[in-house]
Amino acid sequence: MATFSSTHCPSYSYPSSIKGGKNQRLAFSSSFPRLSVPAEAKFFLQSQTSSHQNAVLMQDGAVATKVNPVEKETPLKKLKNELLSVTSSEEWDEKGCFDINENESTVSITVVGASGDLAKKKIFPALFALYYEDCLPKHFTVYGYARSKMTDAELRNMVSKTLTCRIDKRENCGEKMDQFLKRCFYHSGQYDSEENFAQLDKKLKEHEGGRVSNRLFYLSIPPNIFIDAVKCASLSASSGNGWTRVIVEKPFGRDSESSAALTRALKQYLAEDQIFRIDHYLGKELVENLSVLRFSNLIFEPLWSRQYIRNVQLIFSEDFGTEGRGGYFDHYGIIRDIMQNHLLQILALFAMETPVSLDAEDIRNEKVKVLRSMRPLQLDDVVIGQYKSHTKGGITYPAYTDDNTVPKDSLTPTFAAAALFIDNARWDGVPFLMKAGKALHNKRAEIRVQFRHVPGNLYNRNFGTDLDRATNELVIRVQPDEAIYLKINNKVPGLGMRLDRSNLNLHYAARYSKEIPDAYERLLLDAIEGERRLFIRSDELNAAWALFTPVLKELEEKKIIPEYYPYGSRGPVGAHYLAARYSVRWGDLGVDQ
Ligand code: BG6
Repeated sequence: MATFSSTHCPSYSYPSSIKGGKNQRLAFSSSFPRLSVPAEAKFFLQSQTSSHQNAVLMQDGAVATKVNPVEKETPLKKLKNELLSVTSSEEWDEKGCFDINENESTVSITVVGASGDLAKKKIFPALFALYYEDCLPKHFTVYGYARSKMTDAELRNMVSKTLTCRIDKRENCGEKMDQFLKRCFYHSGQYDSEENFAQLDKKLKEHEGGRVSNRLFYLSIPPNIFIDAVKCASLSASSGNGWTRVIVEKPFGRDSESSAALTRALKQYLAEDQIFRIDHYLGKELVENLSVLRFSNLIFEPLWSRQYIRNVQLIFSEDFGTEGRGGYFDHYGIIRDIMQNHLLQILALFAMETPVSLDAEDIRNEKVKVLRSMRPLQLDDVVIGQYKSHTKGGITYPAYTDDNTVPKDSLTPTFAAAALFIDNARWDGVPFLMKAGKALHNKRAEIRVQFRHVPGNLYNRNFGTDLDRATNELVIRVQPDEAIYLKINNKVPGLGMRLDRSNLNLHYAARYSKEIPDAYERLLLDAIEGERRLFIRSDELNAAWALFTPVLKELEEKKIIPEYYPYGSRGPVGAHYLAARYSVRWGDLGVDQ
């Protein structure tokens, strides 16, 4: 079967606004940066244009960059000896790994909060996967920054424990790991110390060796130290002659006001286009595929409206509780943790009008229009729950409030279901139902589109099946076991006439042999490339908070008591009543899911 791509970084090829004309597809390679802009005094630097020095025009009109070979591989033995040994910045340069005579750019990626869970589990492994796939530029350095004292060797040791050769278990993975680890360094410093960031700047400069310096800071730290770190990085460690970008993780505030205050504070030190607000669900393969499914298949787009769609369900469930994250979670709850961002982002992509192009701004303009057309969520349209202890098979699972970091009388919801509406011509009256919960019976994220019944269905009464209930349903299973399937009514083979429900099934594991990249890989690569399509713009964020803030306040002010559900169950029954009010049945709980 044909595939459509043209890229040196095999997993990726993008439409891009920043790299030339609209609708061009761009291939990324290990040679690099095509991006540079002049500095602005106050702000970090941000690239907007591409330098096409390495550009090659591909046959299909795409623009690719020439591949520079990866640095010569050191023999395995030598690498093993060197693995995890301390290599100072000076030593590194002496070894000639960065050739200062080469007039090329460098990218320095600083993971601020390097010893945290996210860094260990997601960020470093994603960077390694990109390196393995030759998606990182030739000259790059990874710096871990955190308060704890650690040597480069200790950081490498820590990082090495989480790296896996997940990509097709291909050859040379061990060597690649060694090479990658040698590019990783550590700097210990306070998050609010300009002096410590200035020391980091000095080290980064040594690595950059006089080349155009591009710097990416990934802030993987708690929100209360966010602004301090941005300030210090901005004032003391931003690039002098290339771009500087900052990836920020949620929570982006707790409500409209605190989010706006955070944006204002960030913008004291950064321009909007330097801020990469990450929502890792946007980096998931099937979420990325939503627009392809919709806009490049004739059969879907004509059905994509109130005329044919009865309801849309966005479902998130996890089969474990807060487990150690109670301190963070109790301050936010499931609506802020999952609905206001991950599920709402999917909804916006699902429901937006066709964008003018695949340009980041065109897509985000359409998303923001959908969000602004939505009705703020009403208290009546929300059900909240909290998991309680449950014993099964001799094992006792804890209640949410058994978590030591959670107050015993906490009313924070660990489950919520909500009905949302988009008041525009396309979606008028169609319920968009969301459901998100922790400590449920399974782990899953999916989009379910339930279609209307077939008017005057010929087969309705004659065959004993109520086909008005057995309507078509399109399921996009984001995770696990990615799949897109369409439930249809079908004749059971045989001489008689009996109908059943069957699936037209695109099961990714069966169709594609290559493993699906982690969301963080895609997003990190995009941030390095300056591609903003999958990051949240501040007006999107404001619109998202405007929808949820009133109901969040009401829940807290009225101290609404959540419905308690047993750990490992299917969640509160209130969710069924809510759906029933809109004549909807949750698709994930039926017999034929
Ligand atoms: C995070 C939430 O954003 O997403 C977590 O804060 C949640 O509570 C996680 O567990 C789920 O992500 P994924 O990719 O494992 O589905």
